[in-house]
Amino acid sequence: MKSGPLNLILFGPPGAGKGTQAKQLIEKYGIPQISTGEIMREAISSGSELGKKVQSFVQSGGLVPDKLVLDIFQSRLDKPDCVKGFILDGFPRTIPQAQGLEEILLSRKSTITGVLAVMVPDEDLIKRLTGRRICKNPACGASYHVDFSPSKKNGFCDQCNGELYQRKDDSFEVISNRLKVYHDQTSPLIEHYEGKKILYKVDGSGKIEVIFQKLCDIINGLTH
Ligand code: AP5
Ligand code: MG
Repeated sequence: MKSGPLNLILFGPPGAGKGTQAKQLIEKYGIPQISTGEIMREAISSGSELGKKVQSFVQSGGLVPDKLVLDIFQSRLDKPDCVKGFILDGFPRTIPQAQGLEEILLSRKSTITGVLAVMVPDEDLIKRLTGRRICKNPACGASYHVDFSPSKKNGFCDQCNGELYQRKDDSFEVISNRLKVYHDQTSPLIEHYEGKKILYKVDGSGKIEVIFQKLCDIINGLTH
């Protein structure tokens, strides 16, 4: 059994299922999910200084500047729940972010355990994102889909009965931009991590439970 923290990157395009899978993985492995997108959406809805800085980028589907994202990550990493590791969701998204992440971890004598890349074709991503509904309760944040994984009570969360809403960046125009940004600026990370021999590709089409099992098999292989 390998010791040390379990530092995972859950990588994939918008709508790949990172958030859906991360919510289940954190339960199983007892480590927190760090979603830079969720941190930014919370900041926007609270009207904080950070929220004002990131709002225009997030709502247009562009990327928030690297320096700001690295600062957000670093302050999240300082929280005590990260001592046993973390699941990064939506970060890093550019080569400079990946390099910044490596430097931050190195300065703490730590490293990335593995990168799990969830691969889904663009046409499926568009269907997933336009039909996504999310629980408004920030402590829950469960993700549903009007066709693929509907909640039992229309418009409300199965887990906490919170109201469901549609993300502002889930409009067709913004989704198209997010996919373009992914292919231009984020997908080069696949080669970056392949070069480091820590990339594990998973077919993200098919049932949520089947994909979850494939992710668990990889993680178990990394820790034993
Ligand atoms: P972020 O919040 O990270 O969004 P994203 O990467 O675009 O990914 P999503 O959250 O849209 O998709 P997901 O993979 O989590 O899919 P989900 O599980 O919900 O970032 C938002 C914005 O913040 C960015 O555009 C940017 O502006 C900014 N930002 C964030 N991080 C940044 C960074 N590091 N640098 C710079 N800027 C940053 O699933 C999607 C839907 O599909 C759901 O409805 C779900 O129910 C359904 N579904 C899931 N799995 C399946 C399945 N197997 N079959 C059918 N349906 C499925
Ligand atoms: Mg997400």
